[in-house]
Amino acid sequence: MGEIKTKAKGPDTPEKFRLDPEVIKADFPILNRIIGDNRLVYLDNAATTQKPESVILALDDYYCKMNSNVHRGLHTLAEESTAAFEETRKKIAAFIGGVRTEEVIYTRNATEAINLVAYSWGRKNIKKGDRIVLTEMEHHANLVPWIALARETGAELKYISINENYRLDLSEIDKIITDNTRLVSITHMSNVLGTVNPVEEIGRAAHRNGALFVVDGAQSAPHMSVDVKAVDADFYAFSAHKMLGPTGIGILYGKESILERMEPFIYGGEMISEVRYDFASWNDLPWKFEAGTPNIAGAVSFSPALDYLSTLGMDNIRDHEVELTAYTIARLSELKSVKIIGPSDTDMRGGAISFVDKDIHPHDLATFLDSRGIAVRAGHHCAQPLMKRLGLTATTRASVYVYNTTEDIDKLIEALKEARRYFCDE
Ligand code: ALA
Repeated sequence: MGEIKTKAKGPDTPEKFRLDPEVIKADFPILNRIIGDNRLVYLDNAATTQKPESVILALDDYYCKMNSNVHRGLHTLAEESTAAFEETRKKIAAFIGGVRTEEVIYTRNATEAINLVAYSWGRKNIKKGDRIVLTEMEHHANLVPWIALARETGAELKYISINENYRLDLSEIDKIITDNTRLVSITHMSNVLGTVNPVEEIGRAAHRNGALFVVDGAQSAPHMSVDVKAVDADFYAFSAHKMLGPTGIGILYGKESILERMEPFIYGGEMISEVRYDFASWNDLPWKFEAGTPNIAGAVSFSPALDYLSTLGMDNIRDHEVELTAYTIARLSELKSVKIIGPSDTDMRGGAISFVDKDIHPHDLATFLDSRGIAVRAGHHCAQPLMKRLGLTATTRASVYVYNTTEDIDKLIEALKEARRYFCDE
């Protein structure tokens, strides 16, 4: 297993300390890459994060020493892989606030987790005339499943709007979340704006009206301490790859009492209790929702990612990102041609920082930054309606994580100034 070089004390003692991103960088082999003539500056963390050596080695270790299918073998490898697969589930349950392992379902990603709710719960419980409440800042993963559900059932979609500060306008929430609302699904943190939403308040409004409350945690679980019970989310969806883990493994947390009443999402092996030629019954939670051979290697190598985050401490990660976000906003604000598309303060805001240059297309800007070794995302960020709502076609987005430094941001700013000279003859 790769040694963690973070200099933190250990997973059980994440006392308050300042992250040292320079030291953390040493744990991530990819951050040594040279792109063109420059060392990689990776600022595309909202799309996916890089992996520490411990995660990469765990993946290697799994296939070298343990590879076997889970829950069905009676040999040593099968027992070991099943134990490791279920051990990660326990770690995830603890990571999101100490829930029951029955409430932690492995999926491919956050998108599949939300689809599971839309298919399994939505198709049974939503009917014509019911209301589904979303927000104007949702990305496609928390939008398209509900659009499809509304189209099929005749349900109405209603959106909580955003105000001029890129925050949700909750002044009319009681008129939006009404007693015919059956489901409210919102992002905890916007992947475009960086806005952190007051999920507790919105959850209370949902539950006052008897609606189910779904939280898209794809951008929050990696960056802050999350307690799904404090949020009182009925469902909470997130992806491992955005929090140092491998791709292809996501999580749906769901309240046991609701999951128990739901039908499976996908049918096949693993999710059954008994099958006859004319009959099938379902396995217990959580396996009822895990048909077929799961991403065992993904789950097993997600475990050291969770250890890594716990070693740093989620509150320390949040403090680091608040500081770096404030620095990024301040430095971007020095550039007269740049407008930040998102809250300008760091209170209730994460480190996904979108911006536009008034004269340079975001794609041109991203390509120019790449030529200087700086990876950012440009485009609609899988949030086309939000872009339209903002009167934009695209933004450039820099998004930070545990290994980013103020020097990374300085390089971004210098490259943006250089881009002005290149494209605008300044
Ligand atoms: N939603 C992810 C992003 O913002 C894919 O990049």
